[in-house]
Amino acid sequence: MDDLGRATAFPLENTAHDGASGAADRPALAYTDEVRAATDHLYAKVKDVIPPFEWPTHAPLIHAINALKAEMNAVILAHNYMTPEIFNCVGDFAGDSLALAREAAATDSDLIVQAGVHFMAETAKILSPQKTVLIPDLRAGCSLAASITARDVRLIRERYPNFPIVTYVNTTAEVKAESDVTCTSSNAKQVVEWAAREWGVDTVIMIPDQYLAKNVAAQTDITVITWHGACEVHERFTAADLREMREATPGVMILAHPECPPDVLAEADFAGSTGAMASWVSDHKPADVVLITECSMSDNVAVANPETRFVRPCNLCPHMKRITLEGIYDALRLRQHEITVDPVVSARARQAIQRMLDLPKDAPPSRFDTKAPPRDVLVL
Ligand code: 13P
Ligand code: SF4
Repeated sequence: MDDLGRATAFPLENTAHDGASGAADRPALAYTDEVRAATDHLYAKVKDVIPPFEWPTHAPLIHAINALKAEMNAVILAHNYMTPEIFNCVGDFAGDSLALAREAAATDSDLIVQAGVHFMAETAKILSPQKTVLIPDLRAGCSLAASITARDVRLIRERYPNFPIVTYVNTTAEVKAESDVTCTSSNAKQVVEWAAREWGVDTVIMIPDQYLAKNVAAQTDITVITWHGACEVHERFTAADLREMREATPGVMILAHPECPPDVLAEADFAGSTGAMASWVSDHKPADVVLITECSMSDNVAVANPETRFVRPCNLCPHMKRITLEGIYDALRLRQHEITVDPVVSARARQAIQRMLDLPKDAPPSRFDTKAPPRDVLVL
């Protein structure tokens, strides 16, 4: 650690826990005629992305999960990076981080199962402290959440006491609690501009994703100070990869997530959150598209847009991939892996999240002008 408490590596201890369990006593589930009849309509949805020989392993779990959900008055919030059998066949609400946070606040179910990573489940619990929130695997972390601690944020505030601290939702509850307001990739520019106005300053601290911060800085006149965190999935894409894809598939439309480095965004036709990318494909119906993001996203957007061809280079998020149908089934039947957040931390984090949720909802999701010239950003 240096004087700002910067970690020399990305420790996973603040998002890693004791993981998933339940396999030993899981009842054997068979692909019976009853299961087939109850799930055939779901297979029709995903038939282009799940081969027929795989379906008999998914269908009994899907049937059992859907029955338990009804019995327990539970909802499953599914992030866009979930595998297609989760996203399309057991998820009740699907979307990007912002949409899932809004849904967690709005649902009247007593039990929420987060089919996503730990920070998303924590956000759901912070917004609905009276509800039970389960995550199928406690080890489903995030390299961004692991890149910064609450102590780091306190040290940043000590160094820059006059600037608002905007924190990406991909962080722990403790980090959110030290922040003024949270943002997602869907509203990052809106939040940064709001914070500068509210604090009456021209500089905003935006942590911990250095690439999202640089991409937002290019869209605004506000000076941005950031942290050296990065998404281990999106930082692996390179500008050369995108140029090769364009050459290999002439006319292909390239959509990138703003967690990618700025030179990658500069090669893309559109950049936005996972939700914004999905909407762009539905609205524009390109013949060929490539989504520069996590692998399952293309499967899920393809289900909704069968007429579009997807070029599929992608990087897997190992944390998102810890969430499986087996894990969801065990979470429900054993009511296991409950998320808890210290009430004091939760109240402070809620204030930061609520400020974000209170911003006008009708603002269109942040679009990143991929041709905007880069601006200098201080990386702590
Ligand atoms: P979205 O808010 O775009 O869904 O992103 C969340 C995430 O973890 C992307 O890596
Ligand atoms: Fe975190 Fe990146 Fe995985 Fe999203 S894709 S959960 S930012 S590691």
